[in-house]
Amino acid sequence: MNDPLTADLAADRVLSASQASFSLTILDETDSTNARMKAWARGEEQQFGNLSLPAVLIADRQTSGRGRLGRAFFSPGGTGLYMSVALPAPPQGAPPLTIAAAVAVCEGLEMHGFAPSVKWVNDVFVHHKKVCGILAEMVAQIVIIGIGINARAPEGGFPEEIRGVAGALGGNIRRDALAGCVAGRLIEWASRITDEELIMEYIRRMPLEGREIAYRREDREFTAVVVGIDRLGGLIVRDANGTESILRSGEITIGSKNIVM
Ligand code: BTN
Repeated sequence: MNDPLTADLAADRVLSASQASFSLTILDETDSTNARMKAWARGEEQQFGNLSLPAVLIADRQTSGRGRLGRAFFSPGGTGLYMSVALPAPPQGAPPLTIAAAVAVCEGLEMHGFAPSVKWVNDVFVHHKKVCGILAEMVAQIVIIGIGINARAPEGGFPEEIRGVAGALGGNIRRDALAGCVAGRLIEWASRITDEELIMEYIRRMPLEGREIAYRREDREFTAVVVGIDRLGGLIVRDANGTESILRSGEITIGSKNIVM
């Protein structure tokens, strides 16, 4: 990759920043790193060889980047880190790995001088803007954790529909160094997935307790107050009648801000 825009995606820099061992593939362009990793996990990517875990696939740009809840993920070249990490599924499935990914992203950003926070379930914010989204998918017994981080602001800005929420890290951050830190931390947490410290690290970066939130369930909107987070990362909420329930997935609105990206 000699293009100045992709010059900060060097394999040796990813590996040296990671302090972990994994198979690494870097592409100029793909439709979606998650889609390619899923195809690889299904044995449909002959040119990549056999998939050995853990594996990390990075692309400079995605033509069909995918987000949660069927949304698209804006993925122009030279600006974002688009990375999928394939790991063996733990007995609890994907949820603890999405928590590990949110913590790993925060740790990678902190190593680069940022002060991130997590918005449940696993969006990462810096300076009140969403800088990272995480999408976990499964193929058989393999979990694919897709991580998209807006390193630099795109030329012409973010598209209108996400402009209010999306932000970029800015500065001189190298995507390869960030990728290595995040992948390394994620692989480390994956090896300690039931460790109580993981959920403590997650909660520590999610200032939600006591906040009023709204969420949707079966096409109805509910409001509640956050009471805490359980050991699996579920959001414990209490409604106006004092009834407690646990949210395991979906999207919440905090105060009047709906975070959609
Ligand atoms: C979200 O915020 O809704 C999740 C976004 C996840 C985006 C990443 S970018 C790398 C990987 N490949 C994809 O197509 N999506 C994920």
